[in-house]
Amino acid sequence: MFWKLQENILEGGDIEVLVNFIRSTARFTQFEKVREFERAWSAWQGSKYSVFVNSGSSANLLMMSAMKEKYGWDDKDEIIVPAVTWITNITPVLQCGLTPVFVDVNLTDLSFDYEKIERVITPKTRAIFITHLLGVPADMKRLRKLAEARDIKLMEDCCEAHGATVDGVKVGSLSSCGSFSFYWGHHMTTVEGGMICTDDEDIYRLCVLKRSHGLARELPESYHSAHKEKHPDIDFQFLFLTEGYNVRNTELHAVLGIEQLKHLDRYIRIRNENHRKFLEILAPYKEFLHFSTFREGTSSFSLPFLFHKKEHKEAFQAKIRKAGIESRPVISGNLMRQPFLKKFAHPSQFPNAEFVHEHGFYIGNNQFVGEDRLQKLQELVAEFFTEISVSLLHATK
Ligand SMILES: Cc1ncc(COP(=O)(O)O)c(C=O)c1O
Repeated sequence: MFWKLQENILEGGDIEVLVNFIRSTARFTQFEKVREFERAWSAWQGSKYSVFVNSGSSANLLMMSAMKEKYGWDDKDEIIVPAVTWITNITPVLQCGLTPVFVDVNLTDLSFDYEKIERVITPKTRAIFITHLLGVPADMKRLRKLAEARDIKLMEDCCEAHGATVDGVKVGSLSSCGSFSFYWGHHMTTVEGGMICTDDEDIYRLCVLKRSHGLARELPESYHSAHKEKHPDIDFQFLFLTEGYNVRNTELHAVLGIEQLKHLDRYIRIRNENHRKFLEILAPYKEFLHFSTFREGTSSFSLPFLFHKKEHKEAFQAKIRKAGIESRPVISGNLMRQPFLKKFAHPSQFPNAEFVHEHGFYIGNNQFVGEDRLQKLQELVAEFFTEISVSLLHATK
């Protein structure tokens, strides 16, 4: 395969550090390296607290569960979610007994169709769960204005947006809490892994507890004595303060995280340079393409195509496939087409999500894409649109 969606982004040095760690440690389960990674992540990301878990999906689940508990949301209360995102932006809402209320996306930053949010707000609306899709920061000022006026909470899914910014502030610290994924193929990787960021001490404490069975001993030591005094009849080692899961990660993954984080700014810079070159390649063919999803503050996740015509999309996708370039839908297209979500709404109620579903796909972006591949893409793009232009010319003669 000439250009895969995902590649191994672990560097030789990362592996070396991991191997040395394995040889020297007697502790593999969550311990000091996890805490060290959390501190390093908080310093890089800009949030007061970070909680390392085993995936971005788990991060979303813990955040939703913690928010429900902190604010005493009732079962069936409503959370506004986008019609195009990754599925585990939606499933935590259901898993926590809440109701997802879907809103169409816009075709500029691929976040919510902001106008439509107001129309779905009801007295039961508790939060808007934003996805900064493909690394493009959503319009947080607009969302904040909307939410603050109504005491609705904002939460951010930044699983595709490490280092994306709004007015110089990194996403994940622009709302009650934010999640990140370190899955293979994201801006940095711990192979599997995720992080929750928050400035809210209650949310932090709840996430730490829920990460590990609800056990009191998981909290930082400064909290221990109060709980011991309050529950003298229970062995503190087995004191459960809330409903929990087990979504811990390991020291091994934290070691990788600490190393990968050292490269992250460089990775993001290269991804964004690739994206700029990609836009230059497409620029002469604007009449055929809907564009673009790259704005100030973007931290490019992938290189997306959105064609005006579905038949052009299909033909171009087939052409690059033949040339060994892998592609995939824009995340999963219109989620309302997914069998288990059909009960919430009909796909046609989300015309922009439908457009993305039918007319869009993306190819991979990472720090190893390189000049050769971009050059090849340029040739394929030029060839394709020249053929179309010629056939259009013939058709009008
Ligand atoms: C927007 C979004 N949210 C959540 C996730 C879930 O992350 P993970 O794969 O680490 O569970 C992903 C993963 O790709 C994602 O793209």
